[in-house]
Amino acid sequence: MRLDQVKTIGMLGGGVMGGGIAQVMSIAGFNVIVRDLNDELVENTRGEMFEGKWGMKNAVVRGKLSAEDCEAAMARVSFTTELTGLKDADFVIEAIPEKLDLKQQVFKELDGIVKKEAIFASNTSGFVIQEIARDVSDDRKTKFVGMHFSNPVPVMKICEVIHTPQSTQETVDTAVGISDRAQRVTVLVKDTPGSYGFIFNRIFAAARREGDKLVEEGIATKEDIDKAMIYGRNWPVGFYQGRGGIGKQW
Ligand SMILES: NC(=O)c1ccc[n+]([C@@H]2O[C@H](COP(=O)([O-])OP(=O)(O)OC[C@H]3O[C@@H](n4cnc5c(N)ncnc54)[C@H](O)[C@@H]3O)[C@@H](O)[C@H]2O)c1
Repeated sequence: MRLDQVKTIGMLGGGVMGGGIAQVMSIAGFNVIVRDLNDELVENTRGEMFEGKWGMKNAVVRGKLSAEDCEAAMARVSFTTELTGLKDADFVIEAIPEKLDLKQQVFKELDGIVKKEAIFASNTSGFVIQEIARDVSDDRKTKFVGMHFSNPVPVMKICEVIHTPQSTQETVDTAVGISDRAQRVTVLVKDTPGSYGFIFNRIFAAARREGDKLVEEGIATKEDIDKAMIYGRNWPVGFYQGRGGIGKQW
C-alpha cells in the first residue's frame, strides 16, 4: 500500500508507547483506531492522549499545537476493545508488551482480520522483525516492518524503520512516509537475526556495559561516570542517576 492510500492507522496496544504513537499519528492527519484489552485500559489511553502530561491539550498549553488542530486530531481518534475493530485499518502499528510469543500470536490472528493490502509494523524494542512476523502469511511478510519509536513519543523524534529481506520497497517507503508525516526523524535499519535492538538501544547498551565495567573495576563511581558523560560528551542525562541533581551546582 502506498502512502497516499493510507487513511486509517490501527494502533494495537494503548499503553505508554501506543498512546504516544496514536497521538502523533492523529496530529499528522491519519484516522486512528486504538485497540486495548478492556474499557478501563482504553479510558486510560484516552486520558493520557487528551489530558496527560505529554497529551494533546497540554501541547496546546505548551504552544506546540493550535487549539483547532488539537480538536481536529482528537476527533480523528477512536477506541475499541475488539481485535476486529482494526479490520478496516490500512496500516497497523503494534505496541503490546515485549513478549515474542504474544506478538507472534496477535499478528497471526490479525492477519486473518485485516485486509490483505494493509501493512503491519511492530514497535518492538529489539526483537528480530522476521521472528515477530513468523506466523503471518507469506504475502503479509512482504508488508511487514519494524517502526521503533522512543518514549515519550510526542517529545522524542526518532523513528527507526526496520526492513526485512521480505519487506517490499513500497512497504518500506510507506512506513518511512508515515514516520516523516508524523514529524519524526526517520532512520533505516536492516533486520538482523541473532541480535536484539536496533541503533540507539544497541549503542546505549554497549556504552552502559562499559560504564558498569568502570564501576566494577573500581575505576570510577557511578556519579562521576554520569558527570563525565554529561559534561564531557554533552549527554543530556547519565546512565545511573539521570541528571540526579548533577550540574545544578556547576
Ligand atoms: N516504554 C518504552 O520506553 C518503549 C520504548 C520503545 C519501544 N517500546 C516497546 O513498545 C512495546 C509496548 O511497550 P509499552 O511500554 O507501551 O508497554 P505498556 O505495558 O505500557 O503497554 C502495552 C499495552 O498493550 C496492551 N495489550 C496487551 N495485549 C494486547 C493485545 N492483544 N491487544 C491490544 N493491546 C494489548 C496492554 O493492556 C497495555 O496497555 C513493547 O514492545 C516495548 O518493548 C517501549
